[in-house]
Amino acid sequence: MSEIIESNILKALSTVMEPDLKKDLVSLNMVRNIKITDKHVTFTLVLTTPACPLKDKMEQDCKDAIHSLVDASLDVTVEMTANVTTNRLDKLTLPGVKNIIAVASGKGGVGKSTVSSNLAVALAQRGAKVGLLDADIHGPSVPMMFGVLDQQPLMRNVDGRELMVPIEKFGIKLLSIGFLIKPEQAVVWRGPMVSSALRQFINDTDWGELDYLVLDLPPGTGDIHLTMIQIVPLTGVVMVTTPQAVALADAFKAATMFQMMPTKVPLLGVVENMAWFTPEELPENRYPIFGEGGGKKMAEELHVPFLGELPLFMQIRKGGDTGIPAVLDSENRSRKYLMDIAERVAQQVAIINAQKAALANA
Ligand SMILES: Nc1ncnc2c1ncn2[C@@H]1O[C@H](COP(=O)(O)OP(=O)(O)O)[C@@H](O)[C@H]1O
Ligand SMILES: [Mg+2]
Repeated sequence: MSEIIESNILKALSTVMEPDLKKDLVSLNMVRNIKITDKHVTFTLVLTTPACPLKDKMEQDCKDAIHSLVDASLDVTVEMTANVTTNRLDKLTLPGVKNIIAVASGKGGVGKSTVSSNLAVALAQRGAKVGLLDADIHGPSVPMMFGVLDQQPLMRNVDGRELMVPIEKFGIKLLSIGFLIKPEQAVVWRGPMVSSALRQFINDTDWGELDYLVLDLPPGTGDIHLTMIQIVPLTGVVMVTTPQAVALADAFKAATMFQMMPTKVPLLGVVENMAWFTPEELPENRYPIFGEGGGKKMAEELHVPFLGELPLFMQIRKGGDTGIPAVLDSENRSRKYLMDIAERVAQQVAIINAQKAALANA
């Protein structure tokens, strides 16, 4: 009896589509562990990322399908878990890392480190294993944003190799060029020294198993970008811009650099930071201090997704200065915006991985 019902459940679930991957949940092998007792059905849905923004929709679609195609009186429980996908074939560099997400911008001061830090924390809060590498030689800010200014990474012997051990904070593995040099020294570091430090971060560091490694790049289109693109197999790039024209022009230049590289790096999309300001005491008012709609327009012109807007919030600045990323505070008005951006980034990574897998199998 239960055999028949299980196959009925599977049949019903095979009518439910994964909205991004445009295939049904059963063909995608996302349905596992169906258990039926009396009037109760439980199964596990294995998502492509724990930060999936469509979780609730998929859960509802599954329940609706079972109720309409099997039995309307069944009590259905969908348990969610995730197995983060990857499209990496070569495992020579960063062998345990499934996805590497670079955060880039044309100009400095547009919120790249703010977005990188909160993206990393948000993904970890959703249950992913996350690392954050701050490669911004001109203004490393991860040590400050995570309150680990005085820490120094240790070395550890792993299978006969001396590897650097990232600093851990809020469940995230951190490395920053700022751990190795004092801010006032940064300017005198020559290109080759920077490159060799970055190579050590990539090749001689014990990152372990990570679902996502977030890379906070310096602004612009300089040497460090070329080094990073050459040595790191990037999954994709998130562009951060403010809505104003000057920042956009620079962001465009940076975006085209990634697209013109021989190893074309996909753009995951555009985040518009400092989109507007809303004073706490006037929550209905929005002041577009740096202009309006620039990020969306840029995403349209580049034919890439718009990953969301982030308003100016005092708490975001404070979080950055006090070493506690704003997304950690559930009372914080900015949290929802930061979480939404992180979920859209994770969603785009899953889509790119599925597209690459489809190409490889074609
Ligand atoms: N949405 C925001 N609301 C408030 N402050 C912000 C916001 N985004 C960035 N900031 C602040 O602006 C400054 C520059 O941001 P940062 O992330 O360091 O820029 P970048 O890394 O691009 O140079 C920091 O002090 C940061 O806290
Ligand atoms: Mg920065």
